[in-house]
Amino acid sequence: MCGIVGYVGPRPALPVLLDGLSRLEYRGYDSAGVAVFDGDRVLACKRQGRLSRLEAALAHEILAGGGTGPDGRRARTGIGHTRWATHGVPSDENAHPHGDCSGRFWVVHNGIIENYRELKEELAARGHRFLSQTDTEVIPHLIESLYEGDLVRAVGAATRRLRGSYAVAVMSPLHPDTLVAVRQESPLVVGLGEGENFLASDVPALLEYTRNTYILDEGEMAVLTPDRVEVADRAGRPVAKRVFRVTWDASMAEKGGYGHFMLKEIHEQPTALSQTLAPRLTEEGEVRGEEEALDPAWLARFRRVHLLACGTAYHAGLVGKYLLERLARIPAEAELASEFRYREPLVDRDTLAVVISQSGETADTRAALREARARGAGVLAVVNVVGSSIAREAERVLYTWAGPEIAVASTKAYSCQVAVLTLLALHLGRLRGTLPAEEARRLGRSLRALPAVVERALSGAARVEEVARCVAVHEDAFFIGRGLDYAVAQEAQLKLKEISYIHAEAYPAGELKHGTLALIVPGTPVVALATQPDLSEKTMSNVEEVRARGGHVYLFAPASLTGGPGEGPGGRPAPGGGEASAGAEAAAGVEVITLPEVDPRLAPAAAVVPMQLLAYYAAVARGCDVDKPRNLAKSVTVE
Ligand code: F6R
Repeated sequence: MCGIVGYVGPRPALPVLLDGLSRLEYRGYDSAGVAVFDGDRVLACKRQGRLSRLEAALAHEILAGGGTGPDGRRARTGIGHTRWATHGVPSDENAHPHGDCSGRFWVVHNGIIENYRELKEELAARGHRFLSQTDTEVIPHLIESLYEGDLVRAVGAATRRLRGSYAVAVMSPLHPDTLVAVRQESPLVVGLGEGENFLASDVPALLEYTRNTYILDEGEMAVLTPDRVEVADRAGRPVAKRVFRVTWDASMAEKGGYGHFMLKEIHEQPTALSQTLAPRLTEEGEVRGEEEALDPAWLARFRRVHLLACGTAYHAGLVGKYLLERLARIPAEAELASEFRYREPLVDRDTLAVVISQSGETADTRAALREARARGAGVLAVVNVVGSSIAREAERVLYTWAGPEIAVASTKAYSCQVAVLTLLALHLGRLRGTLPAEEARRLGRSLRALPAVVERALSGAARVEEVARCVAVHEDAFFIGRGLDYAVAQEAQLKLKEISYIHAEAYPAGELKHGTLALIVPGTPVVALATQPDLSEKTMSNVEEVRARGGHVYLFAPASLTGGPGEGPGGRPAPGGGEASAGAEAAAGVEVITLPEVDPRLAPAAAVVPMQLLAYYAAVARGCDVDKPRNLAKSVTVE
């Protein structure tokens, strides 16, 4: 989820590219670069850090060029990129654009190439030299190896060999005034000008120049010259695109048309999950064990697991604990990092400390990491920001590839953390022999299909908005569930509290009667989660206890557990029924909202979606500043 810009036309390309990149800064990045063609030579320049470093380097290169090097001021064609590291640490070498051995093909890329290792080995064996640790660099080398005089054909052939999600833009001095771009599961927009054309991964980069765009669809390739834009489908057939006129203002455009970053990030979850999961699971559902963190020899040493984190990341750890114990039969504890560091924990070299953090900079989590390491534990970080302090200090890392998270309230990072922990539990289950091979493959295939399930959960947003408007008028709310549902309930109450300022509590459903029921008065909103077949009857009894005291229950459950419409046991969608639609005939005081069907062990990533939406819409209804809740910061680097 980096940023791409491109330009062909009569203007000096560099200012257009740098301006476009500056409009994408809000997305977060760790390095930036450009490649422009001055009519004779290519000037490629890239720097780790802020755009200002790139600008300073460019100014220096242009001056230093002094008639001998390429002259960036004459360039009328170019591509640019802001990188948010996935493969390879943030560095000048890993920044884009990347070139081939001959410097004839230059590429910027967003997304992840799943099969880059195989391709890199193959190309290296044929003599190609690689300068970076990125997955992207295989693309210009592939194009080089397939080029026979036709750039469009070579790019088409190269991208057909890629597996994964990508948006790619290619420039070549052999084809002046031409850019070739391909979109596969990663957004790309063409900006249509008069005698000039533009390319960007996000609309804000274009708004200064044009509001007329082509939004590329999956598998489409665009060829841009100053006077024409031709679009073709995967099979090379021309596509007649409709012009999409952007009417958003700049701030709406930054949010991709969504009202807030939080809503945008909630909706990005299917993409974020597939970026996190698809490279790590084969289509048959087997965990690819190539990452150092999944090395069987290293993992074999551990007899217990401590999951250490704060806030939302801790709630992901709670799901991890359940799954590690259930699938891998290894004792696991989830613990708040701020508590762990001060309680002289019983941790030794048999312990695997799994440190979970979106930012990788949370002070309490870093301190817990050091505490665990000092006591001899092996430390595995589950982190979103590549090259962050926690990623650097941990022994091994499993990245969540959720992309930059801008809203203070964490959403897509949570679901990706849950996905990575599920994958770890599945992998350990196989290594420890507690999960039979066929059962593991079945679960692996379901895990790979999780993005589609989350997509279905998102399709029920309108119904959740209705529920949220009812909850928004209250000052207290409760969330109940058992097992994995209780873990999700804890994340749900935090989300509601932090952005809507409604006081909320999560309770294990069976624990209500030991005190909390005293707080249930007529009308109190109680959100009940029931996704676990072995526990749902028990939860239903607790729902009855609440209803009998006049509480208003919103029951979130799959149709297979409520007997209502929605998906049947065979997984077929109910006729006319979207997800999260009203389910079983509601008893007075109980409203049923249907969740998508999924393997119950994977239910948290789907069930959390309506919880995030509930918090979001309740906060909007109460007029709260959703993306920047009071008193909170995105990254808590102080104790
Ligand atoms: C809640 C939220 C926080 C963070 C917590 C840890 O929405 O975002 O609770 O989860 O501060 O932050 P990271 O994951 O960056 O360590």
